[in-house]
Amino acid sequence: MSYLLGIDIGTSGTKTCLFDEMGNTVANAVAEYPLYQPEIGWAEQEPEDWWNAVCITIKEVISKSGITADEIKGVGLSGQMHGAVLLDKNNNVLRRAIIWCDQRSSAECDQITDIIGKERLIQITANPALTGFTASKVMWVKNNEPHIYEKINKILLPKDYIRFKLTGEYATEVSDASGMQYMDIPNRKWSLEVLEKLEVEREWLGELYESQEVSGKVTEEAARLTGLKKGTPVVGGGGDQAAGAVGNGIVREGVVSSTIGTSGVVFAFSDKVIIDPLGRVHTFCHAVPGAWHVMGVTQAAGLSLKWFRDNFCIEEKRTAELMQVDPYFLMDQEAEKVLPGSEGLIYLPYLMGERTPHLDPFARGVFFGLSAKHEKSHMLRAVMEGVVYSLRDCIDIIRDMGIETKEVRASGGGGRSSLWRQMQADVFGADIYTINSSEGPALGVALLAGVGTGVYKDIREACDTVIKVKTKQEANWDLYKKYDEYYKIYKQLYKSLKQDFVALASI
Ligand code: XUL
Repeated sequence: MSYLLGIDIGTSGTKTCLFDEMGNTVANAVAEYPLYQPEIGWAEQEPEDWWNAVCITIKEVISKSGITADEIKGVGLSGQMHGAVLLDKNNNVLRRAIIWCDQRSSAECDQITDIIGKERLIQITANPALTGFTASKVMWVKNNEPHIYEKINKILLPKDYIRFKLTGEYATEVSDASGMQYMDIPNRKWSLEVLEKLEVEREWLGELYESQEVSGKVTEEAARLTGLKKGTPVVGGGGDQAAGAVGNGIVREGVVSSTIGTSGVVFAFSDKVIIDPLGRVHTFCHAVPGAWHVMGVTQAAGLSLKWFRDNFCIEEKRTAELMQVDPYFLMDQEAEKVLPGSEGLIYLPYLMGERTPHLDPFARGVFFGLSAKHEKSHMLRAVMEGVVYSLRDCIDIIRDMGIETKEVRASGGGGRSSLWRQMQADVFGADIYTINSSEGPALGVALLAGVGTGVYKDIREACDTVIKVKTKQEANWDLYKKYDEYYKIYKQLYKSLKQDFVALASI
């Protein structure tokens, strides 16, 4: 039996999973780390924290699994996308990584658009300039921390910094690199035109691989620190969304995924490059060779519920600890007691600005329609519903682009809640499925490692072998109509408040 290791460097923690070749989880481990928010809308992490978490979790997984390191055929890396890890010529990290949800770089987006031209930028990188993407973060460093910028020798994405620590190679792969905004997306290569215009040296970026290709081998030093065997192949892997999609079997047209992690994403496969001219959804290379994907992103999906849990559910957290259950389980029970629509309370989940559909770093969270009748449980349910409305924004655009969304597979931490899945069925007007594995990105990159090391013929064969549908929840059409009324108001609220968000940010 071959074993494959998938490592997912997430925002709240790193998850490492060992799978057998049938995709069964043999062992897994999680290690958490902090998120630093030095100013409103800023978000940073310490790359060393990721590396420590990777070392701890690999060791834990190997020891729990009872297998020996030489039985691990290959390693796949996944992780939060877009973050800028800047290294100097001695490979020292120059500053904390500015990560995906950081919103500080809106002036730099205008600058990038002016330099390259709006249409040309979309033609090459398939997307408009966004605060979420790496290019604007690097430009911010250039404008605001020139003493750091002048020392840059490498720019790596979070999982690619881990690749460097594991293998000594500076490398990335097409799905994650798409979100740097330095790539020619239709041609799946670095865009020398964009790099030159943004004054980013080609040598600062890693070698660009397809996701299933072997990008390097575990070094002696990394073997000592992780317990892996020296020489174990590490494949390209994927950004967490593309990797999660592979782990959900989104490797053909017609099936889309809806993931509620820290962010929320609706992800659709496409065998051609399709671009939303308004740039409301991203078009990136998929981790499947010769394929692309379109995805809508809501910034604060799981983050909204986590924010609510940590600030307003202290009691539930204590009870959950005593009962030894997940606090979200108790929160689901409370939310379930409230009528769909939260009796007129609507939540806008814009805690970290918003991408799809507004592309607005100034947007902020809102509870609308509060009355003296409402209790905490209404607010809780409204948070869950607001997140689903924001995912409906994503799915509606994808549908309008002519992409089929027959089957929606729910995943991420939020996909584990049957209540949240039913809300998605009722708000989207679609059947919501779950599959037999909930490891998402870690499974996706383990499968890619299996392709790269010859365990599977290709990624479709890998997914067909391993991934099976487990549950199906159907839409309740009466609730669909009811939610639709609330959704119309939800959409209108952003329009009404747009200028007020800007005014608020200017104080
Ligand atoms: C995708 C995105 C997030 C992060 C963190 O574009 O920004 O999904 O990758 O999960």
